[in-house]
Amino acid sequence: MTSPNSPSSSPYPEGSAAFPHRHLTGMAKLQPWEIRFLLDEAEHWVEMNRKQIEKRDDRLHGLTIINAFFENSTRTLLSFEIAGKRLGADVVNMHAAQSSVKKGETLIDTAMTLNAMRADAIVIRHASSGAVQLIADKVDCPVLNAGDGRHEHPTQALLDALTIRRRKGHIEGQIVAICGDILHSRVARSNIIALSTLGAQVRVVGPPTLIPKDIELMGATPFTDMDAGIKDADVVMMLRLQNERMDGAFIPSPREYHMLYGLTPQRLEKAKPDALVMHPGPMNRGVEIVSSIADDPERSAVTEQVEMGVAVRMACLDVLTRKRRGVEGWQ
Ligand code: NCD
Repeated sequence: MTSPNSPSSSPYPEGSAAFPHRHLTGMAKLQPWEIRFLLDEAEHWVEMNRKQIEKRDDRLHGLTIINAFFENSTRTLLSFEIAGKRLGADVVNMHAAQSSVKKGETLIDTAMTLNAMRADAIVIRHASSGAVQLIADKVDCPVLNAGDGRHEHPTQALLDALTIRRRKGHIEGQIVAICGDILHSRVARSNIIALSTLGAQVRVVGPPTLIPKDIELMGATPFTDMDAGIKDADVVMMLRLQNERMDGAFIPSPREYHMLYGLTPQRLEKAKPDALVMHPGPMNRGVEIVSSIADDPERSAVTEQVEMGVAVRMACLDVLTRKRRGVEGWQ
């Protein structure tokens, strides 16, 4: 593993030691080595986070990070905040409910305002797909996408990939079944891209109304039958029904949805005996997953995903601000 401050010892392609992107807006722009690089950097922070407080590293001391969240969030906002603070940065959270967005300010005006405050990194969550890129194009500092509409949620895909890599040893060749509301899920989209880029066999499982038509072009195999979709899977990733993004009836009823697509112990028997169960949260217990699986530490990686989230976000904040901090080899 590389040390975060010594890119010259990098095992990555010649001339590519420095991560070549200013922003992290999606997984679609990343090469396999770039994803692996971020995962390796995050691995370092997993170990550091488990150590004593005095061993912590404040390499982002003096930097200001703005978390601009125009949509609700619990774990993503908290984990970006903890990640920034653990690296010594000053972290400011902007909630849309208290901002001028409610007074009709355009996204561009908000972007220009954030830019004028001379943040060193801006983390954005927004309900509109593409909003994060729009802001990234207008500001001078790195922008990290914390979820934009149904488009992408790259740090979630990175933390999921890290969880799978740590639990299974590698990602290549793993059969990963992503189940539920694929159509409205930025988590599904970023995971399909990241995991297939890293060589996993990705399946998507859900009712035909919740599977995008062109999903095979993204590298995933669609299944509408849950038992067939999770058969022999190494990883079963459950997703919430994104009701807030639905503009009509996509499922007959939550009860029927649970009967057909809910993860129960009987259904999980179809997957590999050591299959890992994942969920990005928030979970709707009794709908897409039952509590006996969600709370089973042998099967469920849900809390580990949250832990990996902090490490991945520390890695992303560190890597994307190296140029600003003048880290050797990154200017
Ligand atoms: C996801 C999100 O916001 O896209 N949650 C998260 O980031 N942990 C998934 C969801 O809301 O269902």
